Amino acid sequence: MLWIKNGRLVDPKSQTDRVCDICIERDRIAGIFSPGGADQKHREEDRMIDAQGLVVAPGMIDVHVHFREPGFTYKEDIETGAAAAAAGGYTTVICMANTKPVVDNEETLSYLRERAKDMPVHVLNTAAITKGFKGEELTDMIGLKALGAVGFTDDGVPIKDTAIVMEAMKMAKALNVPLSFHEEDPALIGSFGVNQGPVSAAVGVEGAPAVAEDVLVARDCALALSTGAEIDIQHISSGTSVAIVRAMKALGKNIHAEATPQHFSLTEEAVLEKGTLARVNPPLRTEADRLAIIEGLKDDTIDYIATDHAPHSREEKEKDMKSAPSGMIGLETALALGITHLVKPGHLSLSHFLEKLTVNPAALYHLDAGHVAVGGKADLVIFSEDETWTVGESFKSKASNSPFIGDTLQGKVKFTICDGKIVYSDGKF
Ligand code: DOR
Ligand code: ZN
Repeated sequence: MLWIKNGRLVDPKSQTDRVCDICIERDRIAGIFSPGGADQKHREEDRMIDAQGLVVAPGMIDVHVHFREPGFTYKEDIETGAAAAAAGGYTTVICMANTKPVVDNEETLSYLRERAKDMPVHVLNTAAITKGFKGEELTDMIGLKALGAVGFTDDGVPIKDTAIVMEAMKMAKALNVPLSFHEEDPALIGSFGVNQGPVSAAVGVEGAPAVAEDVLVARDCALALSTGAEIDIQHISSGTSVAIVRAMKALGKNIHAEATPQHFSLTEEAVLEKGTLARVNPPLRTEADRLAIIEGLKDDTIDYIATDHAPHSREEKEKDMKSAPSGMIGLETALALGITHLVKPGHLSLSHFLEKLTVNPAALYHLDAGHVAVGGKADLVIFSEDETWTVGESFKSKASNSPFIGDTLQGKVKFTICDGKIVYSDGKF
């Protein structure tokens, strides 16, 4: 058995926040005891983690990662992606479908489900909404769901045809699966990845305006209200979009939204300082947008914190602003960015912050995860809320395209436990 003693258990689902001892047997939580329980009850052969001064929380769930397999394994593969997830405190991740080939067929999805079996964390897959991400014809959503797709998305490529989105929502509603949407109308975009305005002008690109996001957010919320489909507005970046989601949520419970650490931590100014490392779709925007996202997190307009972990190679990111791909890695810095920029400044309590990484994403994807309870799964993260560290250049991820390298952050993952096994520890154990 594995014991965690004297940790501060913060479990948003049960609203627990107390110091206790936790006992894990195989892949389950066998018991939760008052402090002292571990010393009294443990047996000689048991392992013990001393979590004095540390937080013990449900293993985090990321609803939005890119692990690049198949097709782009020079950027990341499932093994390195899963290792990055474990290092970041995640025990469940949901992979987007923009691989090569796109996950729009049974063969690719079956391959990915097989690959996921041996990973240290739970790696789940979405499948594409439209064949080849072309936005023209729906995939076989029934067949793909039966093979294990937990949701559907054309993430990375916005769907232009409203009728196709409507059709997909009707099917998703019938299948009881969520759809997640990348909201940027290409018709209004000069170039992807940098907010349109003084910063895009300064770096010599046309840029992507917030209105390109706003129009599709409004459209898809309206379609979700009409169809009853469960939807997730991905990586919301515009203050107006936050307001649209807030208004639409008041009309129906099936609308959800995610924000990324980069969008609540940085503004477009980062592009001037960090160059292509800060190029991301949708782009980092203004301070007013960043503050609106924080307000959205506070009042639960935004339900999830998702990384959009998007690894790219050094060579690709060394290209100029027009040619370098958009995206940044995020799994290994998300917890610390949230603690540093949301919890420590007093925007969110620790439990409220963790809600958006545990119980909320578990509910959207119907997962038996995201909470700590006797008899439940032993998926946990143990972290220091106070320890500071500086983001270095080496990551468990195959990639290192992070604009946060060199930043000193507060909050450090100490252990990640998945299925009762220690899959990451920051020191020797
Ligand atoms: O910046 C981004 N990169 N946004 C996306 O939606 C896709 C991602 C990628 O796959 O690189
Ligand atoms: Zn996206």
